[in-house]
Parts: sequence; structure tokens; C-alpha cells
Amino acid sequence: MTIADLPQRPNAPSLDAFWMPFTPNRRFKADPRLLASAKGVRYETVDGKSVLDGTSGLWCVNAGHGREEIATAVERQLRTLDFAPTFNVCHPIAFEFAERLAEIAPSGGGEKLDRVFFTNSGSESVETALKIAFAYQRAIGQGTRTRVIGRERGYHGVNFGGVSVGGMLNNRRMFPTLPGVDHLRHTHDIAKNAFSDGLPEHGAELADDLERLVQLHGAETIAAVIVEPMAGSTGVLLPPKGYLKRLREIATRHGILLIFDEVISGFGRLGAPFASDLFGVRPDIVTTAKAITNGVMPMGAVFATREVHNAFMTGPEAMIELFHGYTYSGHPVACAAGLATLDIYEREGLLTRAASLETAWAKAWEGLKGARNVIDVRRFGLVVGIELAPREGAPGERAYDAFTEAFRRGLLVRVTGDVIALSPPLIVEPEEIAEIGSILTGVIDDLA
Ligand SMILES: Cc1ncc(COP(=O)(O)O)c(C=O)c1O
Repeated sequence: MTIADLPQRPNAPSLDAFWMPFTPNRRFKADPRLLASAKGVRYETVDGKSVLDGTSGLWCVNAGHGREEIATAVERQLRTLDFAPTFNVCHPIAFEFAERLAEIAPSGGGEKLDRVFFTNSGSESVETALKIAFAYQRAIGQGTRTRVIGRERGYHGVNFGGVSVGGMLNNRRMFPTLPGVDHLRHTHDIAKNAFSDGLPEHGAELADDLERLVQLHGAETIAAVIVEPMAGSTGVLLPPKGYLKRLREIATRHGILLIFDEVISGFGRLGAPFASDLFGVRPDIVTTAKAITNGVMPMGAVFATREVHNAFMTGPEAMIELFHGYTYSGHPVACAAGLATLDIYEREGLLTRAASLETAWAKAWEGLKGARNVIDVRRFGLVVGIELAPREGAPGERAYDAFTEAFRRGLLVRVTGDVIALSPPLIVEPEEIAEIGSILTGVIDDLA
């Protein structure tokens, strides 16, 4: 199969050379789904079919597709300063973007985490956060803290630190992981929390798992604990009421840094700029990426408190304080895209818009309660996770069928195991939400 087999694309390339990420390559290439263009909340395929973007690309295109302001800013920056290093020289736009991010930085109700380290992806943000946590503990004389705690069913990207603290079996089983990592139990409990409207009632006590790990390993060995305030990639797992606050309390009591991975929940996905703000919990470090540039340029940012940052600023001034950074940290074109993105978020109120769409979003999924094969619906902000009963002996296949059939009917969804996840652009209108709900409900009704 080549793209040329599809209508309208003569002389198109073969599909063989591109080894696709997180995709069953042979299955895809036998029946490809190819997107050619996008505007607003819709893609168009190479054969001219319109597909509603139910996933903001990969949880990143929060301001919708084809934003002229971002394209213009990127073009202008490319023609002015296409690249310059940020090691020992710099350019004003990196400082400008960091300052703008600092203004809206997560705070959890306290002082903002207004020190910003730039990366190029969520995975790099996670590695950066873990390294900052270890180095911080050394800087304050706590060098025995070389352990880090993740959580079962967590997803923190694909680099070695992230895979080690992550808790998804298939992402881990093929690779060696870092020593000195342990995991909290996950918080997913369908038996107690199925179809809960908003945050689950049960499970705050699962935060006490951190206390258990402290008793097992000793607080003096633990540098940090990292969790997603809302776990997206692992199937939309919401924090039980009170869970994150309790985790914060235990971490503080034992001198353990709390890292929130907000690569998905950051930039308005849940109805507030950051989940830390929404849940009123102030972590020490926050990782972000994706929607920071509306997905159009690869970029990430790690936010740190001044306490963390300032602990590095004590040695001789001629010394590099943190031996870490990427060629593209603070890439000028990505910064330009990010600034234009923040302008849109601000002008259109997108960082809080999800909250005002709550009624329409809830209505879209009403029909799934009691629907055949649906064992849970988890909805929060502008996210929903619909969990299907697995087919006997073929886990994941029912949701995969829903994914391919939804695409055929003009809707892009995401699946993880037997969970279907949706997270449309924050510009989506209530009528489009109704259309998304109606297509997917129809697909699920027709599923074997
Ligand atoms: C919570 C979380 N952390 C990290 C990542 C990794 O981000 P990236 O794919 O940009 O490396 C993701 C990606 O989905 C994520 O959801």
C-alpha cells in the first residue's frame, strides 16, 4: 500500500520507511488513515473527508488548528533569528516567553512556580524535573536522597527516567529501568467510583501509600514523588477528592519534593490554567509541554518554585549551577509560537473555557450510562474517558474497533487499552460537542 493508492495523491511516497511511533505499523500500513490539513476543530484526510478532532491532535492543539497568529509569528521569527544558542549567549525572546509563562505559572494558591527551564517535549520535561529534584536535594545537603517515587499506571513520557517512574507495563517491560525507583498504587477503582460525576469520592487514603514507602525505604533516601494530577495517557484517571492534598502533606512532612506532571492538564485542559491551581495544591516542580505552543512547535517547560531554583544560586558565580540543557532549550521559533499561543489563550479566555463548556460536555456523554459494553465514564474539564468491557481473550480490541469506526464516521478519538479518551480543542462549540457525542455514542451502540 502506498499513499498513491489513495485518491488524489499521484506519485506519493511508499509507507515503508517511516517507522511509526506507538503504532502497530503493519496494521496501520495495511489500512492507513492520512490527514492532509486542519482548521479549527476539524482535520481533512488526503481523500477529502472531514474528521472532527476529538483529541486536540495528541492533547496539544488547545487553541484549535490553523491559527494564523501563530503562523505569522513563527514566520516572522524564522526570518529574523532562526536559531541562536541559549548556552552562555541568548536572545530576548526566550526571556520574554519565560517571563510571560511566569505570569501565569501554576501556584496552587501559594506563590507561583515562576522559574522556568525550557525543554522540547514532555519526556524531556520529565527528565529535567527529575534531575532538578536530585540536584536540589544535593544542593541542600540531602545527597542521600537518590530515590524517586512514581505511580502505577502513570505516564511520564518515553525516556529512561520517565519510563522508570511511569507505571504502564508495555512501556516498561522491554527496557531496563533506573534503580531506586518505587511506585505508589494507582487510584483507579471502578468498583467504588464508576460513573462518578466529577472527581471520585473514594480513594484519598491511597495517598498514604507514600507514607508506606517512606517506612519501607526511609525518607532520607527519597528525593521526589511524581504524579499526573489527572492521568490522561493511561486512560483518564481522575484524582480522588482530597488525594493530591494528602500527597502534598506527606511529601512536605518528609522533605520529599512533589512534582506534578502537567503535560496534559496544563494550559486549560481541566478548566483552569493548571491542575495545581484547580485542585489548590502547590507542587515544587511542574512539567509541561504540548499546548505550550498549541502543538505547532516542539517545546516543553519545567516550572520550579523559587525555593528550588534559589538553592542552586549559592555557589561561586563562575560555576554553571545546573549541568543540564538542550541545544534547543528556548528555541527562538518555538518561543515565538508560544508567545502567540499565550496571546490567543488570553484573548479568547481559553485557559478557563473548559469550565463553561461543562454542561454541554456532560450532556454529550449522558447516553452512555447503561450502554452496552460501557463500564465507566469519567468526565472532568474538557476530558472524558469511556471504559469498555474488554472482549474475552482480546483486550483492547473493542476500543480499537471503536477508534477505527469513529474515524470512518468522521471523528478522531484516542484509545489506551479499552479506554476511549477525548479531549477536543478548547475552542470547540457546544454544537460540535453534541456532534462528537452523537458520533461516538452511535459507534459504541453498534459495537460487537
Ligand atoms: C503526563 C505526560 N507526561 C509526559 C508526556 C510525554 O510527552 P512527549 O510525548 O511530548 O514527550 C506525556 C505525553 O502524552 C504525558 O501525557
